[in-house]
Amino acid sequence: MKKSRRNFIKTTSLSIASLSSSSFLTGFSNQYSDRKSGNQYMGDFKAPKIKNIRAAFIGVGARGGNHLKSFASLEGTEVVAISDLYQDNVNREFKIASEIGEEKRHQNISLYWGDENKWRIMLREIKPDVVFISTNWNNHAVMAIESMKSGAHAFVEVPIATNIKDLWNIIDTSEETKKHCMMLENVNYGRDELMFLNMCRKGLIGELLHGEASYIHDLRFQMKEENRGTGSWRTLHYANSKGNLYPTHGLGPVSQYMNLSRGEDNFKTLVSFSSPAIGRRLYAEKNYPKEHKWNKLEYKNGDLNTSIIKTNLGRTIMVQWDETSPRPYTRLNLIQGTKGILAGFPTRIALEEGFKNLSKDHHSWIEGKDMKAIYDEYDHPLYKKLNDKSTSLGKQIAESGHGGMDGIMIYRIVECLQNGLPMDQNVYEGCFWSVITPLSANSIKNDGEPQSFPDFTRGNWEKTKPLKIIS
Ligand SMILES: NC(=O)c1ccc[n+]([C@@H]2O[C@H](COP(=O)([O-])OP(=O)(O)OC[C@H]3O[C@@H](n4cnc5c(N)ncnc54)[C@H](O)[C@@H]3O)[C@@H](O)[C@H]2O)c1
Repeated sequence: MKKSRRNFIKTTSLSIASLSSSSFLTGFSNQYSDRKSGNQYMGDFKAPKIKNIRAAFIGVGARGGNHLKSFASLEGTEVVAISDLYQDNVNREFKIASEIGEEKRHQNISLYWGDENKWRIMLREIKPDVVFISTNWNNHAVMAIESMKSGAHAFVEVPIATNIKDLWNIIDTSEETKKHCMMLENVNYGRDELMFLNMCRKGLIGELLHGEASYIHDLRFQMKEENRGTGSWRTLHYANSKGNLYPTHGLGPVSQYMNLSRGEDNFKTLVSFSSPAIGRRLYAEKNYPKEHKWNKLEYKNGDLNTSIIKTNLGRTIMVQWDETSPRPYTRLNLIQGTKGILAGFPTRIALEEGFKNLSKDHHSWIEGKDMKAIYDEYDHPLYKKLNDKSTSLGKQIAESGHGGMDGIMIYRIVECLQNGLPMDQNVYEGCFWSVITPLSANSIKNDGEPQSFPDFTRGNWEKTKPLKIIS
């Protein structure tokens, strides 16, 4: 099977090459320049061990403080600097870190606030080992790049960047500086996502065929943050950006189930369409006076975006995004294989051969309270290890946010840095998962025409190891 897959990939690559050279399809070009001499492929990169990790934080608004708290609570860590536009944010997080440190750690934290560029001074003065970046989307790339150039590993909130040029610059800088640049995709550490990965690896649903991934979350209420905070900058994207603006929460886990960009398969092409853009205008009209700035915007990005990804092996992934329509939250989190299906929201599975006394075949779901037997059997070892609430670490992780996934992610980052292990998400994965935004925008502009994925690995994905089941 493996051999025939490899031949298939080679054949597919050849046909891609011939198609691109004939410019047969609009935007169908995955060409890349050679890796610069001296640059290193970062797929399974191991950095030297850092026993006591000195971390700086840029952006401690709604999100950044979470990371700071989880990080500061772990042994072998030192918070050395915090930067934000606002002094009150910086002071709040300074107090939290100082208290967690109990006069032993985090007692010498430099604070930077007041203008857009203070973080640059921070990097120069502090020279941290790692930088956590949790600012608005437009400055993720420049902050990650400058952090790596200053000698730090960069950990960047989602999406890692919003355009193809910035994504390549992140890759090239990581390869040149030999620094990790990991996107902080916390959903890959969710209990269900970890369990589904475990079940896929055990072959429970056979060969993988199709996935569904989404971020469907009514966030209209964020428009109340008119002058600072998430809504103040994110609202502008609904007006001025295009396509799927937040693809990574759903796609990250499905990509790792399928081993995309890791040895087995890779992203090939994408087509995308959006619905009309109506909901944000209606919400602004209903909730704000006529002359309010939210009523002066023209909300041009369609409310609901649907893209379909085709992989080198011919698998398909439907990726949806909607932060506007009235509807319960879902990330879909669905993976179909030749022997069964795993699905989220609500969590449910169906297996052709059935499961114990709970199902005899795939014609009915195992769901609700019956899922306990599945969790008992297939919970990921990492989740089992860290979910022990009788330990202080287990309690801390349970309280860390998003059902514990945030704490597990930071735990793994610290563990990998301290032990010189590859990150669970390499820089290429962050870029592949984020590039959905510009590719979907291009496809929409061209009436759904296929867009090819840039191969951020420059062909090296074939030799990159799949993420193993970490215990
Ligand atoms: N993974 C998740 O579950 C999750 C959840 C929420 C947000 N996020 C991501 O986190 C990021 C931040 O979102 P948020 O909701 O916290 O936004 P936010 O507006 O609440 O916080 C961003 C912070 O960055 C600061 N900032 C902006 N420019 C800066 C600069 N030049 N220098 C220093 N600080 C600067 C702002 O002052 C603000 O406090 C976004 O990328 C978002 O997509 C991820």
